[in-house]
Amino acid sequence: MGKLKLSPFPSLSPLPPLFLLLVLLLVAATSAAAMGGGNSSVHELLREHGLPGGLLPRGVETFSLNRSSGVLTVELNRPCYAKYYDDAVAFFNRSIRGNLSFGALRGVEGLAQEELFVWLPVKGILVSDPTSGVILFDIGLAHKRLSRSLFDDPPDCRPDGLLGRKGGGFQEQR
Ligand SMILES: *[C@@H]1O[C@H](CO)[C@@H](O)[C@H](O)[C@H]1NC(C)=O
Ligand SMILES: *[C@@H]1O[C@H](CO)[C@@H](O)[C@H](O)[C@H]1NC(C)=O
Ligand SMILES: *[C@@H]1O[C@H](CO)[C@@H](O)[C@H](O)[C@H]1NC(C)=O
Ligand SMILES: *[C@@H]1O[C@H](CO)[C@@H](O)[C@H](O)[C@H]1NC(C)=O
Repeated sequence: MGKLKLSPFPSLSPLPPLFLLLVLLLVAATSAAAMGGGNSSVHELLREHGLPGGLLPRGVETFSLNRSSGVLTVELNRPCYAKYYDDAVAFFNRSIRGNLSFGALRGVEGLAQEELFVWLPVKGILVSDPTSGVILFDIGLAHKRLSRSLFDDPPDCRPDGLLGRKGGGFQEQR
């Protein structure tokens, strides 16, 4: 019945399809944004903040960013070790926290790196100058300068200490 009534007014027909298209576009845009916000990876989130995405390994189960405090909380599926370059190994606790701002993750908890066979907690990660290609790791005693391209891709993360080494010292230090 409705169709029969509409057909005598073909001049009105261009408007409703346009309106419908706009509504559809709006719906598509908002749902895409919702999906992206809810499901985009923590690695993308790091990149959006001017940090290399590979600072966190694969195997992230959940993460959340409190946008008012800047606190990023990441849960891996298990504590693990990731190899970055040569035999530089990082230990990731199951839960990792840090204060995320543009170009920096400060007040980091749950991340350690091995330095001369000693596990040192990483306290902060900083890209001071985005054009320099350098990333700084605050390991308490010093800032370690590394090429940020080493951290572009999220590494695999394995529950066993890599290369037969163990990160137990890290937990005992705290
Ligand atoms: C969300 O991410 C998971 C794992 O990466 C993927 O399997 C799933 O298809 C994604 N869902 C959406 C709606 O993008
Ligand atoms: C986010 O941080 C603010 C400020 O620190 C705090 O009041 C709020 O409870 C936090 N929200 C969540 C969901 O943790
Ligand atoms: C996070 O850092 C911002 C400034 O970079 C600071 O204002 C805020 O208090 C910090 N939040 C926490 C929880 O340390
Ligand atoms: C590792 O994470 C657990 C919670 O999953 C926490 O209780 C523990 O204190 C963390 N250890 C370190 C060294 O951050």
